[in-house]
Order: sequence, then C-alpha cells, then structure tokens
Amino acid sequence: MPDFRGLKDIDITFEKDFFPKIFPLGSQNGGGKSTLLQLIFVLLHCSIDEDKKPFIANMLQGFKIADGQDKRVLAIIDIWDGENLVKLGFNCCKKSPILEVVFDEDIKSEDSIDICYYSSAPKSNNNQEPNTKLQCHFTNQNKERVQSFLHKISRKTFLAAPSTQVFIFLPQHSRKLLFKQPSNGDNNYHGILESARYKLRGLFTYDFLAVDLLIKSFKDARDRDFREAIKTGSYGNSYQTIIKELNLLLGNKRINLNEDFSGVNFQLYNNGETIELYPEDLSHGELKRLSIYVWLNSRNIKDAIVLMDEVEIAFHPDWQYQIISDLKEWAPSNQYILATHSYELCQALTPAHVKEIEPKLIKQES
Ligand SMILES: Nc1ncnc2c1ncn2[C@@H]1O[C@H](COP(=O)(O)OP(=O)(O)OP(=O)(O)O)[C@@H](O)[C@H]1O
Ligand SMILES: [Mg+2]
Repeated sequence: MPDFRGLKDIDITFEKDFFPKIFPLGSQNGGGKSTLLQLIFVLLHCSIDEDKKPFIANMLQGFKIADGQDKRVLAIIDIWDGENLVKLGFNCCKKSPILEVVFDEDIKSEDSIDICYYSSAPKSNNNQEPNTKLQCHFTNQNKERVQSFLHKISRKTFLAAPSTQVFIFLPQHSRKLLFKQPSNGDNNYHGILESARYKLRGLFTYDFLAVDLLIKSFKDARDRDFREAIKTGSYGNSYQTIIKELNLLLGNKRINLNEDFSGVNFQLYNNGETIELYPEDLSHGELKRLSIYVWLNSRNIKDAIVLMDEVEIAFHPDWQYQIISDLKEWAPSNQYILATHSYELCQALTPAHVKEIEPKLIKQES
C-alpha cells in the first residue's frame, strides 16, 4: 500500500506456511493498524456485491488523484488460493477521460474489473457527480475467474472490532455523529453501525453476544450429529465438543441449554452451593471470549481471513496470551491478523509472526 490516509509504503507478508496462521500487528497509537485492517476488509468483502460497494465509496472519499495523473494505486493484495498466488491490484482512476494504458511495476495487466465510483473531493453539495472510479487489476487469470474469486473471498473475509472504533467505511456524516450527543431514534452512530452490520455480513463487534446465535451453534451441532447418524449409524460428537469447549472457556461455570432451546444459563459451583447465572451476569471479559467463540462457530468461519482489531481489550494478561491457543483450537484453518498492543499476546507466538507498522515502537524522549 503506497499511500492511504496515514499509511505510507506499507508492505507486509503474512506467510502462508507459518504455523499457526496467526499474526499480531503492532504499531504506535495512530500507527494505522485499524486503517489497514478496515481497508483490507472493505476491498475484499465489498468489491463484488452491489449493496456493499457504497462502503468502498465512503472509504475512498477524499482519496484524490493528483493533477496530471490518470490513476493512483490504492493497494496490491496477493492471496494464495490453495494452488496459485492471485495478485489483485486496486487502482483509482479518473473517470473521464479513462486512459487505457494501465501499467505498473507489480500489476502488468490491462485486464480490469470496475468496482465502484466515488467522489475524490469532499462533497460541497449533494448533486456532485462522483468523478473517480476504483478498478481491480489482476494477472494470470481471466475476468470470470477473478470475479468468481472475488465472490468467494468476499464470503471468506471477516472483521471483528470494538463498536467504539471509528469505521472509515461508514458515511462521513455518520462518523461525525460519534462525537455528538446521542439523539432520540436511531439517527445515531450506533444505529447506523447496526444497519451497516446488517449489510456487511463479515463485520462483527465484540460487544454483541446474541443468545440466539449461541443456541444456533447448539442446533447446528445437533443437526451435524444427526446427519452423521444417518450416514454412518452413529451420532457424531459435535454437540459434546461445543459443550466441552464452552465449559473449558468459562472455567468454573458450566453451561446449560434449556430443554426447549429457549435460552442458556450457567451454573457456578461456589462452596458446595450451585448458583444459576444468565448471560447478563457474566463479566466483560467472559462475555467477550464467549462472543468470539460463538461468532466463529455460529457463522461457520473456516478457511477464512479473519481480521481482529484490539482483540485483547477486557482480557487479563493470561487471557491475552490464551487467546492465541483459543483461536488455534476453535478455528485453526483461518488466517488471523490481530491488531494489538499486547505483549502477552505476541509472546504466545514466535517473533517472526509479529508484524509492525513503521515507525517501530521506539522509546520517546522524556
Ligand atoms: N487523511 C489522512 N491523512 C493522514 N493521516 C490520517 C488521515 N486520516 C487519518 N489519519 C491519521 O491516521 C491515524 C489512524 O490511525 P488508526 O486508527 O489506523 O491507528 P491505530 O494504529 O489503529 O491506532 P490505535 O492503536 O490508537 O487504535 C490517526 O493518527 C489519524 O490522525
Ligand atoms: Mg486502532
């Protein structure tokens, strides 16, 4: 990525052969971690479905092409698809006139897919026509294959982030609402985020533990077990695995599913006494750990790119360390990129796994 908002000359490899495929991403505050995760997410998740493209246009508002230039490289993303390296170059071009000569050092292809139009200048009035477009260039593939690859990658790219984070893919006016007193009705930042979340199936905010998603995980596991019984004559152990993993996750509490699937509760054994607790009784960190597990499980997130921002918030250092083996155990086929400030989390991996955005963390002069 040559130059996007605060990010300059970013070139990072998340090695496909590393084990586990979990990469902490560090920088100073304001170093650009969240910007980088959101850019990757939006380009990979939103480039193909028409109802998601406005999020790309929002993000690119103000991304200008200098006078005298025809295009500007936004990002080049190489993805290993299991057999080949697919190289995607995202270029912004002036809409009129569109010059056909699109050559650059990395993407030498003139084949491209038009993704969306956006306004490169801040809107002075609402009637202003978007004057710039985003194209995706590619090499060694034909157009149909790239389109079907983008479809697949769109369903396989996820972003988890705190809901208090400013999301640069929301409309600019709604980002400003985060800094205003909440108003009545849903015309506030969180209302807008909620409706964006509805369209962006890959977006998850940690503050959200839907009990119905948890119940859905149980039902899916029950159905998998039953299908296995039809196929092989014996029930599978998906349901038991979920119960076991949840009980491990919750430490001293045991999870119970109501017989009619209407809800869950947690039993806490305390000095010989059993206390019944509900999701609303759990701590911030317990809920967060549980919600990550439920999200990965209920959305069946496998063989995917999972971008997670500030995953360590609310976790004790032991759990910051632990989250690496949790992810490895819960959904090992994913590639995780974790924007973080946590040393404990990094220590659970090798130094080569840890990526940094320059300038590196240096001691500041007092
Ligand atoms: N158009 C722009 N040009 C240059 N810098 C910008 C632009 N827009 C935002 N910035 C800066 O980019 C940075 C964005 O940082 P980002 O949120 O990605 O950092 P971060 O590494 O996630 O930080 P933190 O650890 O605090 O969450 C901010 O410092 C912001 O001031
Ligand atoms: Mg951040």
